[in-house]
Amino acid sequence: MAPGGSTPGVIVRLDTVDSTQSVAFALAERGAADRTVVVADRQLAGRGRRGRAWSAPAGTSLLVSIVVRPRLPLALVPTLSLATAVAAAEALRRAASVEARLKWPNDLLVSSRKIAGILLESRMVGRAAAAGSAQPGSDTVTIIGVGINLGQREFPPDFADSATSVALETGQAPSREVVLTALLEEFDAWRGRLETEGFKPIQERWRRFSDTLGRRVTIDGVTGIATDLDTDGALLIDVGGSVTRVVAGTVSSSDGAGTPLPR
Ligand code: BTN
Repeated sequence: MAPGGSTPGVIVRLDTVDSTQSVAFALAERGAADRTVVVADRQLAGRGRRGRAWSAPAGTSLLVSIVVRPRLPLALVPTLSLATAVAAAEALRRAASVEARLKWPNDLLVSSRKIAGILLESRMVGRAAAAGSAQPGSDTVTIIGVGINLGQREFPPDFADSATSVALETGQAPSREVVLTALLEEFDAWRGRLETEGFKPIQERWRRFSDTLGRRVTIDGVTGIATDLDTDGALLIDVGGSVTRVVAGTVSSSDGAGTPLPR
């Protein structure tokens, strides 16, 4: 059993799906256990953060969704995405010799290009979902989706300057199974630490991997120097000497003027 009590569960392997997130939610609705994993070769309607699409040619990427029935205070559930980002960075290092950095909240970058993304979605399932309100016997389920670019040798022109893959970084496409195994091992470990020790260990490791802290950033109209990760995963930004908390958003610009903290 992994730290925190997660038992490695079933892995559902599929060829083509609309989105592994949708399949995982459907399985959760039918009672799939915590830590059920869905992996697909191809997605027809892959979802990214903030309503964006996530697409990749068949067989080039690790496309995975994990069913999580969180054992966490509600306020800490969003930090599962930062724990997963840390897990994915550790897995890429172990399984593919790729050193990724983290762009807040949970993008993985290599040489400032995106190599992986994480999507966390939570819904009520069971009787609550049917009744539209909290009911005994209902549950919140969280699905964590991870997309890692493994074998792409090129990207469409719109992404050529902003995306990369393991193959482009190292010259060879790693085995998807090897990366999946490493990812799930790291996920179990970091999720376990989050559930037993709280956010602090994830916060510390995230800081070490960070590509955001120390930089000048703009997020949804707030511009300043990103100074730290708060105890709930929010980004702290120094705006002209006063600290602003940003809980969600996309870093729309960052420059190299700041000094990223040493790892
Ligand atoms: C992002 O950076 O915008 C998040 C991307 C998440 C993509 C993964 S691929 C597997 C899973 N299924 C989806 O539809 N999305 C996530």
